[in-house]
Amino acid sequence: AERVFSGVQPTGNLHLGNYLGAIQRFVEMQKSHDCIYCVVDQHAITVWQDPKGLQNAIREVTAAFLAAGIDPKAHIVFNQSQVAEHAELAWVFNCVARMGWLSRMTQFKEKAGKDREAASVGLFAYPALMAADILVYRATHVPVGEDQKQHLELARDIATKFNNDFAESIASHGHNGGFFPLPEPLIQGAATRVMSLRDGTKKMSKSDPSDLSRINMTDDADAIASKIRKARTDPEPLPGEEAGLKGRPEAENLVAIFAALSGRTVAEVLAEFGGGQFSTFKTALADLTVSQLAPIAGEMKRLMAEPAHIDAVLADGSERARTIAAPIMASVKDIVGFIRSR
Ligand code: TYM
Repeated sequence: AERVFSGVQPTGNLHLGNYLGAIQRFVEMQKSHDCIYCVVDQHAITVWQDPKGLQNAIREVTAAFLAAGIDPKAHIVFNQSQVAEHAELAWVFNCVARMGWLSRMTQFKEKAGKDREAASVGLFAYPALMAADILVYRATHVPVGEDQKQHLELARDIATKFNNDFAESIASHGHNGGFFPLPEPLIQGAATRVMSLRDGTKKMSKSDPSDLSRINMTDDADAIASKIRKARTDPEPLPGEEAGLKGRPEAENLVAIFAALSGRTVAEVLAEFGGGQFSTFKTALADLTVSQLAPIAGEMKRLMAEPAHIDAVLADGSERARTIAAPIMASVKDIVGFIRSR
């Protein structure tokens, strides 16, 4: 059966890229699939987090999920650290994945920077935990932004190697055709890689020191309008056709954001705004962004005032996640050759 899994790190500053590349897609997938959405707090601590700040950020991502329209009763919303099977399977995957594979991950190279010796072991092993997140539910589809593509390829490599390394044992335990599915990335929509508003060649990111580089999911209408007004652009008017966006990363980014927020295609957006003043387009984009994000920000604020309710959602989701993960983890133990009491 098809099952959707995805995760978001609670590291503060949830932004428009997280919304368009991931959360908005999560909402969409609920219509057709059983979905599991996870606040990946164990991934967050691969870089030191202030404990109080971490708690707040976990609740904020949860609030964003709920405010955007994820239904925690029909689907599952929880935080990773409450389901021990993630870390348990990650250990097995640490022993399946190769040092060489992990060394090639661009996110590790970027985050570790020049001083790799000083990076945490967790930051290096990060993609093996991510593979475990997905495969501990034997999930088949993973909605993510473009920047997670390489990690998804690694998850498929780990699943393939596990299936091969333990092929005989897997068959002897009655699983036909491999134990883990090869999870498919779903990189969909008009804005799978939202760029910084200050530099069209850099990704919009939670950790950019300039707040003007991103639209936060909690920004108010004034902040959104002012950031879009100040967004970098080139002096040319918008082109009438998609081909005219080539070599104009800032213009391309703003048009993609408009398309994603309005549910229209890039061609449709250019048909309306091509040839016109950039300022006219920016005003329309600001209005559109406010109309889409303000209700979500308002609902997030309301939810954040009720932390006990959020924690109850996470507790309930964790319990239901565990009932799926536990038997899969038990099978993994049998396949690997561990002894366990029944
Ligand atoms: P994270 O927390 O960095 O980002 C959460 C989601 O937002 C997407 N995203 C973007 N999409 C478009 N434009 C952007 N500028 C942009 N920035 C971020 C990300 O692609 C992601 O989908 N490793 C993951 C979290 C994770 C995970 C998983 C995801 C842990 N386990 C299992 C899927 C399945 C991460 O750091 O995402």
